[in-house]
Amino acid sequence: MRCYSTRRALLNPRYAKAFLKLYLYMREDPNFSLRKSIRALRLLRHEKIVEHEGKFIVSSFFPPIPTKAFFRVFENHINDTPFQDFANCMRQAPTSVHIALTNKCMYSCKHCCNRFKGKNEMSTSEILDLISQLQDMGTALFGFTGGEPLLRKDLIEIIKAVDDRSVTILLTTGYGLDREKAKELKRAGLFATLISLDSSKKEVHDKNRGYSGAYEIALKAIRNSLETGLYTMIATVATNENLRNGDMENLFKLGKELGVHEIRVGDMIPTGNLINLSPEDLLSQESREILKELHIKYNKKKDYPKISVFSYIESGEIFGCTAGVFHSYIDAEGNLYPCDFVPISFGNVCTAKLIVDKYDVPCIPFGLWGWECTVNPGVLTVRVRTW
Ligand SMILES: C[S@@+](CC[C@H](N)C(=O)[O-])C[C@H]1O[C@@H](n2cnc3c(N)ncnc32)[C@H](O)[C@@H]1O
Ligand code: SF4
Repeated sequence: MRCYSTRRALLNPRYAKAFLKLYLYMREDPNFSLRKSIRALRLLRHEKIVEHEGKFIVSSFFPPIPTKAFFRVFENHINDTPFQDFANCMRQAPTSVHIALTNKCMYSCKHCCNRFKGKNEMSTSEILDLISQLQDMGTALFGFTGGEPLLRKDLIEIIKAVDDRSVTILLTTGYGLDREKAKELKRAGLFATLISLDSSKKEVHDKNRGYSGAYEIALKAIRNSLETGLYTMIATVATNENLRNGDMENLFKLGKELGVHEIRVGDMIPTGNLINLSPEDLLSQESREILKELHIKYNKKKDYPKISVFSYIESGEIFGCTAGVFHSYIDAEGNLYPCDFVPISFGNVCTAKLIVDKYDVPCIPFGLWGWECTVNPGVLTVRVRTW
């Protein structure tokens, strides 16, 4: 895996050319200033840039560079001032949308956020229509999630429906991701897989997932994904315990041995099954500090995967929480939420004439300066408003 520091990547002509194009586009905005954009770029200084199939991944929350989808992130503005609108999160559409394709799942994870979701699912045509509307509005990144999205028979058709204005990521346990399925997904245009692995230890993962064999399934899926050339990520959840007992760093080591491109480390969020999580089981301030150090330390190591720690990236020091200002979530029944974990819906996108109707709803407190996340205390939004 080829990777670079943010500075060294600029020495690559394809990468530098993409930034020059972006610079020229933004410079048209009278509010643009080089000083401000350098300050914004400094927020990325602890990122590792991964080169994958000739494209560069600065952050997997953005499409790779250079792609049409990447530039659409910046073309998605309300006024004639792309630079100012980007900084103030004034967008026509959420840049990133996760769509749950089903609530069906073979597992029963201790921490599952999906626990109280209903049985209904959007039909194929409803999902295709939703994708088409969101692409027209400016969404540049789709995550297909669940439940287990691989249980949806029309998954390939859904992925194929996303044209090159956006990239697609599959959030999965790996259940059903055999070599043939991985190839089929890649051919359909899938960019990346995000495969859950809760621990470096088989017994811990299997117990947490409530499914014997879940660990082996995840590992096989990771290998199949890598073999097919998909950008391959592990999704894991940080706890005070797995930071204290070294399991998190062992998982990083396992990710390195497997050759994955990236490991995303989420916070344990008190929602779904964990709605009554006691405050002492939430990530402590000390754990958040450790996570920040891990993000910085491991992104300097060339032989390790890129590490993306949510509690650091979503801290006020970097971007803040992006729920409702950059990212949105639509559940299997079509209910729209600011993110995958906050159970406060803005309404159902299938019953509205157009999804645009729902995005016109003022996003109430989400996206207001300094608002503390409703479900994950300690995470603040630091940008202004959404669409
Ligand atoms: C809802 S699952 C859907 C995809 C698939 N079923 C899976 O587990 O990979 C997406 C991701 O959310 C994570 N997740 C679920 N509940 C969570 C919670 N309460 N806090 C943090 N992450 C959670 C899962 O571990 C998984 O990586
Ligand atoms: S977290 Fe994913 S795998 Fe686990 S029960 Fe929930 S939907 Fe299923």
